[in-house]
Amino acid sequence: MVSESVMVTGCSRGLGLEMVRQLVKSASPPRLVIATCRNPEKATELRDLAQDHNCLKILKFDVVDYKSLPRLVEEVQGLLGASGLNLLINNAAIMDTCPTQMFGVPLEQLEQQLFSRVMETNTTAPLMLTKAMLPLLRQAAKGCEGCLSVQRAAVINVSTNASSMGRFTFNPDIYGYRASKAALNMLTKALAMEYGKEGILFVAIHPGWVRTDMGTSAAPLNVEESISDVLKTLSNLTEDHSGLLISNTGDIIPW
Ligand SMILES: NC(=O)c1ccc[n+]([C@@H]2O[C@H](COP(=O)([O-])OP(=O)(O)OC[C@H]3O[C@@H](n4cnc5c(N)ncnc54)[C@H](OP(=O)(O)O)[C@@H]3O)[C@@H](O)[C@H]2O)c1
Repeated sequence: MVSESVMVTGCSRGLGLEMVRQLVKSASPPRLVIATCRNPEKATELRDLAQDHNCLKILKFDVVDYKSLPRLVEEVQGLLGASGLNLLINNAAIMDTCPTQMFGVPLEQLEQQLFSRVMETNTTAPLMLTKAMLPLLRQAAKGCEGCLSVQRAAVINVSTNASSMGRFTFNPDIYGYRASKAALNMLTKALAMEYGKEGILFVAIHPGWVRTDMGTSAAPLNVEESISDVLKTLSNLTEDHSGLLISNTGDIIPW
């Protein structure tokens, strides 16, 4: 089992949906999988999964709707009961794109509002959700002695190799996406230093280049391959990975 309780954001489609699918269909599924999305009424595949799997609960949550956080925490607490939250996966994200190229927006065409929206969704929102869920993560960390792991208490920030300055090889003009995920990596490191001592593991993960709406049909990996690797890698994380950016197969990616 990856963890007793898992919460994933952005589960209407793409990698978030596949994470939920593989978690609930695994041989030993979590006791509780909380899948959030901003429009549950439109997330038909997710709702179909929930019909077949009692451990899956869907909560409506737009990650930039900070006013809804107290209600969300209450709902999550209600589902968890006395135990804390073992694993939070900050997956929801957006990319700055335009019709003239596959990824990114040339600076001459980049509007401030788009850049700010990408920074907010990909950096501010996961930080604010982590802040809101901290008491529940602490509760899980306290309830289980031992090393850092996703079985105990962890926050996984879904990042990208496009955030890496050490491995910068393609498409420089995805400015918002690159900057927001590099900032997310920094938060992962800072939170790991601050809360690792309380038993909470923080890791950033690159899922590979994957065929989703964001990854496009040009990507080499399908969602099944990516998420199968990601979940295997998550299960094996230890304190050695605390504050790092790693790939779907567990390799360390330079900052
Ligand atoms: N695909 C790749 O090749 C690739 C590579 C590296 C990293 N990643 C990362 O992997 C994660 C998932 O990407 P993906 O490829 O699955 O992307 P995707 O297919 O575009 O799906 C994005 C998901 O995020 C949700 N989302 C966006 N803004 C949201 C908001 N404000 N509140 C709640 N949910 C929101 C979307 O919900 P709606 O349906 O409501 O829009 C959707 O469920 C992202 O963090 C991405 O940066 C992907």
